[in-house]
Amino acid sequence: MTTADTQELPWYLQGNYGPIQDELEVRELEVEGEVPEALEGSYYRNGFNPPSGWSDHWFFGTGMIHQVEFGGGQPLVYRNRYVRTPYFEKAPDLMTAMMDPANSPANTNIIRHAGKYLALEEAHRAWEVTSDLETVSCYDFAGRFEGKTMTAHPKICPVTGELLFFGYQMTGEPYLTYYRADASGALVQSENIDIGRAVMMHDFIVTEHYVVFMDLPIVIGAIGPQYKPEEGARLGVMPRSGTNADVTWYEIAPCTVFHPLNAYEEGSRIVMDVCKQKDGQMREGMNDLSGEPAKLWRWTIDTATGTVTDDLFDERYADFPKVDDRMAGLKSRYGYAASFLNAGAPKLGSEVIKYDLEKNTSEVHDLGSNATCQEPSFAPKRPDSPEGEGYVLVYSYDNVEDSSSLVIIDSENFSGPPIGTVKLPQRVPFGAHGNWIPNE
Ligand SMILES: [Fe+2]
Repeated sequence: MTTADTQELPWYLQGNYGPIQDELEVRELEVEGEVPEALEGSYYRNGFNPPSGWSDHWFFGTGMIHQVEFGGGQPLVYRNRYVRTPYFEKAPDLMTAMMDPANSPANTNIIRHAGKYLALEEAHRAWEVTSDLETVSCYDFAGRFEGKTMTAHPKICPVTGELLFFGYQMTGEPYLTYYRADASGALVQSENIDIGRAVMMHDFIVTEHYVVFMDLPIVIGAIGPQYKPEEGARLGVMPRSGTNADVTWYEIAPCTVFHPLNAYEEGSRIVMDVCKQKDGQMREGMNDLSGEPAKLWRWTIDTATGTVTDDLFDERYADFPKVDDRMAGLKSRYGYAASFLNAGAPKLGSEVIKYDLEKNTSEVHDLGSNATCQEPSFAPKRPDSPEGEGYVLVYSYDNVEDSSSLVIIDSENFSGPPIGTVKLPQRVPFGAHGNWIPNE
């Protein structure tokens, strides 16, 4: 199926939202400009790619991971592979897939923790893959993980090396479970958190000493997930090794937040920068993704006074926020995000955004009038480089040539021309999340 044949399909199967067919491994890649010698590792990105060409929802496409590996000042390989779970082998109907924790589309993110590469999707367990994208098996933390689901947005603490995450359930108690694995990957804590309702909880927030659960009102009801602002919204603050009894809940204005950028502690305050859709998403149900796109907002909880403030940080439509991984949970100066257009369905823009969270400013890197961006990722120049000294990697789609490239932007000359552009042998569909993972 070419992109020209997809006009009658839902938006998420049209154009560069639509799947590709081939799994490639290509070592000769054309570069415009330069690849910095400092880039030693791989940029991985997961996304939705139904092999049949059809899925009932953008989020239900089978996971396909794209990898561009760099070394010696050049791209070494581009490869893309499906995550070969039972869902890939025989795409089941959704209810069947929901009943089996291993039957995951594994389509939302890929991380590395304690040497394991995990492909993640929030309604199932994780799947382990190799560094070159061969599927290993469903991953249960050496038998210690008893939950059915793991978020696609775990957090790796740069101070302790811990992996902090949660799982939420749509079908019954426990609706929320918190987990903590130590730096070696051993699961050391599993804690049920009482939230009293089933909500779609896509991501969460971590600081140096706390986790913050976002109990927001995309509520699971008779028609599945639906935004119900009248059912209220709150943030639950818990010490990272705490229990359900230690959670303090703070009421906030109803909204949808799929992705926080970062958060930190300052005295008694917890400061959280989040991409917030103030009027919600999924208002008519899960198929309704027409909500006004997110903008960057700052929530501040003062745990001493019990107050919460909620301030717009930047007027640009933005989501897929990223921070320098070395600053996760710490006070960071810079953040990055993909621009969005207010188009009645998720529609990425051509601009990559860089926020200066200290100066309250933002700037953009415009990929060009025919281009569309995706989620950016930050790669530091060296492991010990100061925050902000490095490269921003982002896939760019050329909607005239129907082709993709991986663009390397100098984070210190962000609006200037890119350092290098790696031409890719096939387009990379608009997908979900990825990470720059340096060689170990
Ligand atoms: Fe996400």
